[in-house]
Amino acid sequence: MMRTIKTFDTTLRDGEQSPGASMNLNEKLQVAAALAELGVDVIEAGFAVASPGDFESVKAVADSVRGSSICSLARCVNKDIEAAAEALKNAETPRIHVFLATSPIHREYKLRMTLEANIEAAVAGVKYARQFCSDVEFSAEDATRTEIDHLCRVVEAVINAGATTVNIPDTVGYATPAEMYERIHSLFKRVANIDRCVISVHNHNDLGMAVATSLAAVQAGAGQVECTINGLGERAGNCSLEEVVMALKTRSDVFNAGTRIVTQKLVPVSRLVSTVTGLKVPRNKAIVGQNAFAHESGIHQDGMLKNPTTYEIMCPADVGFQKTDLVLGKHSGRAALADRAKTLGYDLNTDELSRVFDEFKKLADRKKNIYDEDIAALIQQQIHEQKTPAAAKSPAADWSFVSYDLHCCTGKEPALTLTLQKDGREYVKTISGGDGPVDALFLAIRELTGQDMSIKEYTVQSVTDGEDAQGETAVLLTRGGEVFRGHGVSTDTLEAGTSAILNAVNRMLR
Ligand code: KIV
Ligand code: ZN
Repeated sequence: MMRTIKTFDTTLRDGEQSPGASMNLNEKLQVAAALAELGVDVIEAGFAVASPGDFESVKAVADSVRGSSICSLARCVNKDIEAAAEALKNAETPRIHVFLATSPIHREYKLRMTLEANIEAAVAGVKYARQFCSDVEFSAEDATRTEIDHLCRVVEAVINAGATTVNIPDTVGYATPAEMYERIHSLFKRVANIDRCVISVHNHNDLGMAVATSLAAVQAGAGQVECTINGLGERAGNCSLEEVVMALKTRSDVFNAGTRIVTQKLVPVSRLVSTVTGLKVPRNKAIVGQNAFAHESGIHQDGMLKNPTTYEIMCPADVGFQKTDLVLGKHSGRAALADRAKTLGYDLNTDELSRVFDEFKKLADRKKNIYDEDIAALIQQQIHEQKTPAAAKSPAADWSFVSYDLHCCTGKEPALTLTLQKDGREYVKTISGGDGPVDALFLAIRELTGQDMSIKEYTVQSVTDGEDAQGETAVLLTRGGEVFRGHGVSTDTLEAGTSAILNAVNRMLR
């Protein structure tokens, strides 16, 4: 019998803890809806007690997303559990996820707790959570560095206290796959009541082993894998959802297990998360990277033409890479655009379609052939520009780009006149200075917007091949220790850069 492994996605909680990956409420709602459509079993929507913003986003996801369990993290502390329960109260199937570190390092230095006190606190947390919710997960933080005897006692005690899922996280990404297999196997052998709960794993990727350790845990009997889209997460990230899901599917002969994930939606969801977080997916990333199915060498291409299985172990369409011969251009209409957007995984409402169509027409004037990647970039730009509910009431309140006049040559400082718009008024700045054109644009924006900020990261990438390809710019700006990200796309890379900086400034001002 094939086992069905539950997927627990923590992109909105652990993933959002990646530096610079924070998302606003709208973005979190879009990602949560996409995860539910993807077929994720449990969506960890946040850590409700962490801040009023976190509480609001867990609540908004719980109020609106259907089809997946919605979960909030909480320490084994009453006020955390109460906040989680309150935020989840309208969820279709809520889950409270309590955690407590169990390893000697954490017990001694962080918690200052004895072994007995550690078990008591875990049990108290689970019992209190069970007063609000019948589905309670307990995580033994740093479980892979916890003495196995103590871990067995904690697991048995929290199951008796009512935990329905017990998670064995490799919090610091230290375990090898063989060690993880051994640990989960020992729990199954030694914990008498283990059949009353689902054993889960949550592995970090510090040594690049998160997916391998998760698969080893599945082989030892784990029934849930915690993961994130694109492997986002603290430090080097978490187990990547798309990789673990496709490994289970492609090697079901070995794992004898699968998931509920609609794998054809993996690429669109990966793109969505990359857009809203501003964290690019490396081209060679397994499953969802742009090159994951590209064959460059002559020998490989020859083999592929004769039979794709010579060099492909998965079919690109199975993970959501679409091959379309139909290229859109300036004569294409709204219906063709809506249809293509849908194929790419974006369900646009009438307003969104109108805005994307306007941009599409402008792009069609500048670029002969418009490819799927161009359309995805236009839609993603719209997602980035979507206002928070407060700002939506006064859309003109954001800074936007009007034009620039720039003169550059080797050995001389750039001379620039930049025109921006805000609140229906135009603002013009003429400067002579900067190390180059981008620096000059940044200096002028800084003066016009009055923000004391600096650039932490500035990356440009072409959206498609070809001379008339659009440039996509992602920026990270810092102001007083806070990080703000922005995104811009245009056939003119300096315009894309200016839009990206303004996009980040507008977030700063909100
Ligand atoms: O990495 C970890 O241990 C966690 C727990 C809160 C599950 O994120
Ligand atoms: Zn984690």
